[in-house]
This record gives sequence, C-alpha cells and structure tokens, in this order.
Amino acid sequence: MGLSMEKDAGKIPFIPYGRQQVDEDDIQAVAEVLRSDWLTTGPQVGRFEEAVATFAGARYGVAVSSGTAALHAAMQAIGIGPGDEVIVPAITFVATANCVVYQGGTPVFADVEQATLLIDPDEVRRRITAKTRAIIAVDYAGQPCDYDRLRQIADEHHLYLVSDSCHSLGAEYRGRRVAEIADLTVFSFHPVKHITTGEGGMVVTDQTELAAKMKHFRNHGISTDHRQRETLGTWSYEMTELGFNYRISDIACALGLSQLKKLPAWLARRREIAALYRTALQNFSGVQPLRVADDVLHAFHLYVVRFAEQIDRAAVFQKMRAADIGVNVHYLPIYLHPYYQQRFSQNEVQRPEAEAAYEQILSLPMYAHLTNDDVMRVVSTLRQAVASSC
Ligand SMILES: Cc1ncc(COP(=O)(O)O)c(C=O)c1O
Repeated sequence: MGLSMEKDAGKIPFIPYGRQQVDEDDIQAVAEVLRSDWLTTGPQVGRFEEAVATFAGARYGVAVSSGTAALHAAMQAIGIGPGDEVIVPAITFVATANCVVYQGGTPVFADVEQATLLIDPDEVRRRITAKTRAIIAVDYAGQPCDYDRLRQIADEHHLYLVSDSCHSLGAEYRGRRVAEIADLTVFSFHPVKHITTGEGGMVVTDQTELAAKMKHFRNHGISTDHRQRETLGTWSYEMTELGFNYRISDIACALGLSQLKKLPAWLARRREIAALYRTALQNFSGVQPLRVADDVLHAFHLYVVRFAEQIDRAAVFQKMRAADIGVNVHYLPIYLHPYYQQRFSQNEVQRPEAEAAYEQILSLPMYAHLTNDDVMRVVSTLRQAVASSC
C-alpha cells in the first residue's frame, strides 16, 4: 500500500503488490465533510452502510473502524464465547482467527483445497465437534468459497456461516453476490483492498437483530450515539454490555462512498489484468496461477501463482524485489505463528495442503491502475527470476 515511490530519479518505478487509487473527486468528498458539522457519527456513515449493503446484496450494513473490528463485531453478535469453537481456514490473514480469540473462543484450523487455497468443506466436516458454533469462510484472493456445500454443513449442524469477504467485494458465487449467502459477511477497506476508507470495515447481513447488536457493540455497548442524543434532546445514556469504540468516521465514509462509485470499473480492470497474467503465464513451465472455478465471478484482490517444487520461491522473491517489483506471500498458515503454537496445543496437528502451499506461492502485483506494460514487466522479470532459481 502507498508504495509507488520512485526510489531514485531516473530509476524505473517500484510496482507494489497492491495500492489504493485516490482521485480528485475523492479528495473533494473528504474536504466537504471536513467543512461540515459531523466528522463522526454523522450522515455519511449511514449512507455508506446503505450503499455497500445494496451493492453487496444485503439488507443492513454496520460500518466499523477496520475489517478486524468487523470480524470481532460479527463474533460478538453470534455469541461466541469461552468454550466455543469456530472453524477457520489454515491459510488466511491472522485477523480471521484472532476475532475468535478476542471473544475467548477457540479457532479450529481446517486445511485448504490444493488448487484454490479455499477452505475445504470436507475438512470442515471432519473438524466439527459438540463445541463448534460457527464457520468463517475466507474468499482467499477474491474467489468465493464453495458456499453451497458450506451452507449445507452449517445448516445440518446448526452453525452460523460467516464470510470473511475482505478479499471479495464484488465477487459472485453461482450468480449470487457474496453477501447473499452467509449469515454475516465482512469487508475491509484497507488501502490494498478494492476500495478504501484509509482504515475501515463493514459487516453486512439480512438479520435485523444481528445488525442491531453490532451497532451497539461498536459504540461501547451504549444504545444511543452522540448524534441520536442530540436529536432526542437528552444527555442520558446507558451501557448495557461491554463494547468497544469501533466507530468509523464520516471523513472515512465520505471517501468510501466516493470510491464505491468507481468500484465496478475497478473490478472490471482487475479481471482484465488477471486475464493478461493468465495469458502471459500460459506455457510458463513450473509456474501456475491458482485455479478459478467456472461458476464464480472472481474479485481478484490478489493474483497468486504457485511454483513447482524445484523452483526456489525465496530466491524468486528476492530477485523480484531487487527488480523493484513488490511481490508478497499470503499467508503463513495461522497455526504456525508463535502465538498460536504456544496457545493452542491442537494446532500441532499439521494441515498438509496449507503448509505445502505456503512454500510455493507468490502474490504478483494486482490493483486497478496497474498498466498493461506493468503486467508485462512483472511477467518478464518473473521469467528471468524463475530461470535462475531452479
Ligand atoms: C482475509 C482478511 N481478513 C481480515 C482482514 C482484516 O482487515 P483490516 O486490515 O481492515 O483490519 C484482512 C486484511 O488484510 C484480510 O486479508
């Protein structure tokens, strides 16, 4: 994010793996809020919630200060607490599991499918116990999970299905938008994501009661916010449960609303870039993009390739970085992080697909204003790097 710097004058520019685009109209939208009465808990928040929920295919949106806060609010709303288990994929950003731990619950790691790195529904089934309360599916890289199977498993075992769609705003599964399937769907508006609010996140849902709980939770567990009390002409408020200050500002939401207008065009461009990569990588021995299912519309937050075993991924990474191409690796399986190793003994059990993938994957640059020439530079540099790293 934010790393488009030209390191030295005359040197070819650095291409990051992802970054925001902020245009003059975005800056204008933010400036208008700065001149208004409400910097936070004002009218932009509700507008942004409604716009994202409508775009994503849900009735309600609850905007918060980050995708991580959104995941935490989701876990609180469905009542996750000590003794509860929540099944999450082994390969994802740590926030997907941390939100369970924040609530005193235990994340249980399911292995991923080899070709897509999406949570494997058969693994989910195997890991269900009497303590399981929910599944968090992660649309890794922007590809929706196998939601029909996950929904069936969740319904059979009376579990909540939560979608961590932080990578998949604008994706579709079998003709349905991502937020039309799970009980709760979570988005992030971090600068590397499809649209940004600086920091920010949202949970969208069709369930009235869950939406109300999350609004309460993001505001310390207090039933009214500052603006509502102003309107009602009262000073009094009561805190009925422990919450957090997870509110998002009007400044951030104005930026998000302005960005959202451009999202369809940006998604189309991401898909165009993915097609360019796919064509350029054809017949590239030892390098394979992750499989994309026929019945999904991918949102391409990331473009992940996988190397054959004989290719030294660490060497390729170094060579790409040395050539000013900001490749990255998403992600170390969560249970291999020292915190999780020390805290959860269950995680000594290996997830072979996740661990094998972690050794072989690389995320290539992907963002809407990457040019075709940038893509060609990435691919030709990758060819040279791979040729000298076998
Ligand atoms: C899969 C996934 N979940 C959750 C998050 C957390 O989002 P945020 O950075 O907005 O807190 C991220 C952020 O990168 C993510 O990639």
